[in-house]
Amino acid sequence: MEAVSILHNNTTVSISMHCTLSARVVNPAVHRVFSSTSAPVVKHSKETNSRNNSAKTSTITTKEGHLQASTTGSRKGQFNGASNTPKLYLDVSPHRAVSAVRLMRIQLGGAFSDLLNEQGKGSGDNEMGYVERTLGFRTRDLDDRDLRLNVKLAKAALRLGAGNMVNAFLRKLALLKENNSLPAPKVDGNDRQQARALATIHSHPVWMVRRWTKYLGLEEAIKLMMWNNADPCFSLRANTGKGFTREDLVTELEMLKVPYELSPHLDDFVRIRTGMQVVIQAGLLKRGLCSVQDESAGMVVTVVDPKPGDRIIDCCAAPGGKTLFMASRLNGQGSICAIDINKGRLRILKETAKLQEVDHIITTNNADLRAFDNNGTKADKVLLDAPCSGLGVLSKRADLRWNRRVEDMEQLKSLQDSLLDSASALVKPGGVLIYSTCSIDPEENEERIAAFLLRNPEFSVDPVDKYVSSDFVTVDGFYSSNPVKHSTDGAFAARLLRRSS
Ligand SMILES: C[S@@+](CC[C@H](N)C(=O)[O-])C[C@H]1O[C@@H](n2cnc3c(N)ncnc32)[C@H](O)[C@@H]1O
Repeated sequence: MEAVSILHNNTTVSISMHCTLSARVVNPAVHRVFSSTSAPVVKHSKETNSRNNSAKTSTITTKEGHLQASTTGSRKGQFNGASNTPKLYLDVSPHRAVSAVRLMRIQLGGAFSDLLNEQGKGSGDNEMGYVERTLGFRTRDLDDRDLRLNVKLAKAALRLGAGNMVNAFLRKLALLKENNSLPAPKVDGNDRQQARALATIHSHPVWMVRRWTKYLGLEEAIKLMMWNNADPCFSLRANTGKGFTREDLVTELEMLKVPYELSPHLDDFVRIRTGMQVVIQAGLLKRGLCSVQDESAGMVVTVVDPKPGDRIIDCCAAPGGKTLFMASRLNGQGSICAIDINKGRLRILKETAKLQEVDHIITTNNADLRAFDNNGTKADKVLLDAPCSGLGVLSKRADLRWNRRVEDMEQLKSLQDSLLDSASALVKPGGVLIYSTCSIDPEENEERIAAFLLRNPEFSVDPVDKYVSSDFVTVDGFYSSNPVKHSTDGAFAARLLRRSS
């Protein structure tokens, strides 16, 4: 058996190399291994291999997501035993590793399944392109049988040999975690040092730890990171627009033996922890009977409060989660103009609207909102579900935390300001503008609204307590869902009324 030792913050941990991939182990551990910024160093120790009696020395260094392995010794003829020079140099890029994680999560928990189901084919170009570029093959060409072999694909994505080593590494880390004996750094020193330690322990970028400690306090920041690292829970919305009720959905789930809970917040929603693949394979999404939608996003629609007969503009609409829910609330009366700059995502919206039989009240416009000309027509309700950091949905987006940089926040804020100004011009006098994000960051939420109101005094805050339970209402009258408190994603919405004249 090979042995590996991890040098991590001056603590050494041994890893045996005979382990195979363990399903439950993968998510949190992969996260930790590939995302730690604290550069754990892994070294093979020289030890006799009981199977082939060969010795090898390897080094893996993970630093800001990089994992490299050099190996000497002989193993199935791959290594040059006569020399200490590595014959094989294994390099697993963070992108490749993230792709592997994504594929595993699709297989194990149904995460990202929208990328690979029928509706996702030929669409969602950004995400699919990302996975495909990093894997080096086209996942969209795979048939259903192939998709069930995601773990194998994931292993293929990691080069030969590296996969085994990574598996062993993850397995051992998971065991250590179970025994509460992970080699964790001490949380002490100044703010920065403490943030670094917490970032390592909870596998988040240091800048996020610092930001959340500042805005939420240490205790809440830690709870949030733990939530982000836990298995995500998904919710399904029954598509009442097609006459399919939550009772119908529950009947289907019971037949499929998928455990569920009724949403305590929204009449059309149920929560499921497992069984997403079963739901997909049963064709419930394909037949437009339900959608995967988080309750926190559903409650943004409750804040919009669509009523039959309303003229609504959805400014950043794709891929259409909120548009479709709003459409189902209109009962076939009224209209929604769905605008988005991304053609591929807008195409998904169009196709799903057809499936859900609400397409007759939705028109789509592929445009940049900042240059959108609606011929002077204004709407009763305008929803701006703005592009944002996604800091409220990190539990469902394994890679997002590592793709976001603190500098992105400034760019996003400036985009949010200009989109808010453009959206506000589409609101009729006496109408309402709803600004929402899937972020928990006050700079993208409350601060954007405060700045907007200073620039646009004809708007005022309409408190959301008439629309959602008081548990979700902030002191300023905004809607805010908190992952730790509400067990949903984090989201924000503000209702802004335009003066009548
Ligand atoms: C948070 S997502 C919207 C999610 C959507 N509302 C839903 O519920 O499914 C933000 C969207 O804004 C779009 N977007 C970004 N910049 C834009 C712009 N300048 N004009 C119009 N859409 C834009 C993106 O393409 C993306 O689809």
